[in-house]
Amino acid sequence: MGQLSLRELELNVDAENTMKSKIAGNVDMGQRISGSRAMQMLELSRHSFEKIVKLGTLKQYIDGKKKYYILSEIKTFMTTTEYKELSEGTVDKRNTLNDLTGKDWLPETKSFFYQKGLGADSFEAQIEKQHPAPYSFQDIGRLIRFFTKKGMRVLDPFGGVGSTAKACEIDGRVCTSIELSPKWHALSIERLEKEVGKGTSKNHNFINGDSCEELLKLQQESVDFVVTSPPYWGILNKLDQKVIKNRVNNNLETKYSEDEKDLGNITDYQEFLDLLVNKVFLQSARVLKNGKYMALVVSDFRDKSDFISFHSDLVSMMNKREIPKGGFLNLQGIKILLQNHKSLLPYGYPFAYVENIHHQYILIFRKEAKRK
Ligand SMILES: C[S@@+](CC[C@H](N)C(=O)[O-])C[C@H]1O[C@@H](n2cnc3c(N)ncnc32)[C@H](O)[C@@H]1O
Repeated sequence: MGQLSLRELELNVDAENTMKSKIAGNVDMGQRISGSRAMQMLELSRHSFEKIVKLGTLKQYIDGKKKYYILSEIKTFMTTTEYKELSEGTVDKRNTLNDLTGKDWLPETKSFFYQKGLGADSFEAQIEKQHPAPYSFQDIGRLIRFFTKKGMRVLDPFGGVGSTAKACEIDGRVCTSIELSPKWHALSIERLEKEVGKGTSKNHNFINGDSCEELLKLQQESVDFVVTSPPYWGILNKLDQKVIKNRVNNNLETKYSEDEKDLGNITDYQEFLDLLVNKVFLQSARVLKNGKYMALVVSDFRDKSDFISFHSDLVSMMNKREIPKGGFLNLQGIKILLQNHKSLLPYGYPFAYVENIHHQYILIFRKEAKRK
């Protein structure tokens, strides 16, 4: 049953009263209402409802076998701070991770969510779409709100066009964004200035350089969260011909850069993985504070007829790995980011199973003092 408005609930109080209400056009506040109606009105779980009844905060009446509540008493209870705390939730005093109430925390522990994108014509998509592989700042905002509190520091070692920095600015976090290409670096600063507000790029640290070198300059245990999406080895150079043609026709880049330090230009997959894990991810983990999290947004992909399970390769290389200068990485979960809006392409049809990869993985590691 969908949520009823307060007015609808009032007019549905119980079988006899409903008729009376409709005829009179108003509601007798002394009306009796059933437990399930009261629960709906208060929008509380059964557990919370039973708790306030047990504590006597909300009075329960008994008439023979029937239990009931009084509408006016429910309305009075709804004006109290006790009710506000119950319905909106509170931030637990012991919560040092984020600013979420229990109610907002729980849905974020689901092992999947749907990607939230902008329409290609949106004003906010004009810089983002110039980059061949951006992620959605809204999706990253969700992760940032879960894994940090306001004012905390976030690191993205593959900054691209600044989606992480934009999410940080919107949510009041401070971003360090490292990007090799001068073009994407400049566009990420422009993006904040144009899309979020003049002067907002100054709240963050945009570094134009090679992460393999720049991370070494960052202080150990100085950030609260690492979130990033890595370049995909030589995969952009092997993109679907249709996709490449489309981007070329629209005057958009089909690769990150020509730079030899660009991890996206390494042709050997093993060499790419080694550099990515050892020089970037483990160094980012060194910069991460103990007990804090790292979220890596990655996709599996095909290389001709081979299916490369990039996410599981990363998990086996990184889980339980020792971090330089102390600590270990411990896998905490793998979230699936569903891209249900993507168009289906008839890749193998009618001969073979060739997957339309319409999801990404978010690998969530925690930095811990001891190996578990
Ligand atoms: C998947 S993209 C990240 C996109 C970003 N999440 C966004 O939404 O804009 C990977 C980025 O890593 C950059 N990159 C590649 N090699 C790098 C390196 N050695 N150091 C820093 N950035 C590098 C590429 O130029 C590319 O912009």
